[in-house]
Amino acid sequence: RLLIIDFGSQVTQLIARRLREAHVYCEIHPYQKVDAAFLKEFAPQAVILSGGPASVTEPGSPRAPQELFEMGVPILGICYGQQVMMVQLGGHVESGHKAEFGRAFVEPVGNHRDEPIFEGLFENGREEVWMSHGDRVTALAPGFEVYGTSPGAPYAIVADPRRHFYAVQFHPEVHHTPNGARLLRNFTRIAGFTGDWTMGAYKEEAIRRIREQVGPHGRVICGLSGGVDSSVAAVLIHEAIGDRLTCVFVDHGLLRLGEAEEVVTMFRDHYNIPLIHADESELFLSALEGVSDPEEKRKTIGRLFIDVFQKHAAEAGGAEFLAQGTLYPDVIESVSVTGGPSVTIKSHHNVGGLPEKMGLKLVEPLRELFKDEVRELGRELGLPERFIGRHPFPGPGLAIRCPGEITREKLEILRRADAVFIDQIRRHGLYDEIWQAFAVILPVRTVGVMGDARTYDYACALRAVTSVDGMTADYYPFSHEFLSETANRIVGEVRGINRVTYDITSKPPGTIEWE
Ligand code: XMP
Repeated sequence: RLLIIDFGSQVTQLIARRLREAHVYCEIHPYQKVDAAFLKEFAPQAVILSGGPASVTEPGSPRAPQELFEMGVPILGICYGQQVMMVQLGGHVESGHKAEFGRAFVEPVGNHRDEPIFEGLFENGREEVWMSHGDRVTALAPGFEVYGTSPGAPYAIVADPRRHFYAVQFHPEVHHTPNGARLLRNFTRIAGFTGDWTMGAYKEEAIRRIREQVGPHGRVICGLSGGVDSSVAAVLIHEAIGDRLTCVFVDHGLLRLGEAEEVVTMFRDHYNIPLIHADESELFLSALEGVSDPEEKRKTIGRLFIDVFQKHAAEAGGAEFLAQGTLYPDVIESVSVTGGPSVTIKSHHNVGGLPEKMGLKLVEPLRELFKDEVRELGRELGLPERFIGRHPFPGPGLAIRCPGEITREKLEILRRADAVFIDQIRRHGLYDEIWQAFAVILPVRTVGVMGDARTYDYACALRAVTSVDGMTADYYPFSHEFLSETANRIVGEVRGINRVTYDITSKPPGTIEWE
């Protein structure tokens, strides 16, 4: 297995993802945890050092354990990881150079073009890469040679071929480095990985880890939302520990039209998984009365969720574990809440709303996965395609699609508008092309005219995006015909809405949800 040492880059998980795509098993561990003893125990076959926000020139900045470099395993340093390698192996790094962000072109140096690390690369002479750094290497560590340069980065790719140490200034893991995945793959092949690891193997590994964490008698309670994530988590955990899993489906009054019935039928009747249907809508909706700040909404919902779980866990016979379908994008965007690096964009309720002292331990078997990988895992677990293909639905539900204060009236209107929009998308055969689509009810009333009468009703916005992993997204380019037909249907069929707009913001700078 391959070890990724995380120095806190926003995109470390993408390294893991690229490796999974190359069918290589890897694990990410934060640098704080990786010491000599850890390395010995883990016994990695190869190591990748991630990027990170720090500067190696600052006193106390993160390092790898020095023993790493004596283990005789191939190492690849990326960006901050490159600088760590250079300073720890006797080279030199300076800050204060002009920062370099964005697209650059790397060319191979001399006859290094034919090195195994470059297999399939530089076929057109140069490679486009994504740079993002402030510091740069000014003197190479002994044993290293320059393999590739760019106009702004003379040491864009360096290597010590004798020890199989490689270090790159740019980020090969991001989409903006189009052939970066190839470089990572080449590195793993040099390290002896054959690329025979699969999602089936991941499933087995995940089941093993759940059993190990929960122990032979532990009981798990799982919050089921009806979305793909919690469903896959539930089925996976059920496969690992059988009926020691109880699912609690919390109806927080923020679900879509007909959703509650659908989920209960599916899990109780189809999967035979023990399920408690907790109708707590009164509790949630009254707690949300008068709350209009998005973070406060999320925190309120997150807090109540935990309370409700604890109550039902006790009723179900005392579970010690709480399972959640937290995905990697939830983790990275909330990571400063949980004590790591990077900035809070939104406190996704799965992780952000957890009280400091929760009585239950967390089981989060999907924490390392992106949405499309969860779907693949779902297929591996035999979930029906219709279910796997469902658009994601956020834990806080319609609360974050109702900017401003939430009222029962607005929720009812929103549900019906959303149902019409999704029906339109299905009728036009577009559901599977779209990553996520939903309606948002705006906190404004506008004037309209229907028949001969004046109306003064809510406006709604429609959101439909394409995305690979939810981290970035673009709006879906509906035809004008589709948009007018949909707007007409919504205004005609949904009482309380007299105006429809379509949101054409990408992410970034927008986010997918409005709150
Ligand atoms: P944003 O709005 O952050 O959404 O661009 C990215 C993806 O995450 C979903 N989302 C959430 N999922 N709890 C969840 O389980 C949350 O609090 C939450 N907030 C956003 C969102 O629907 C989209 O798929």
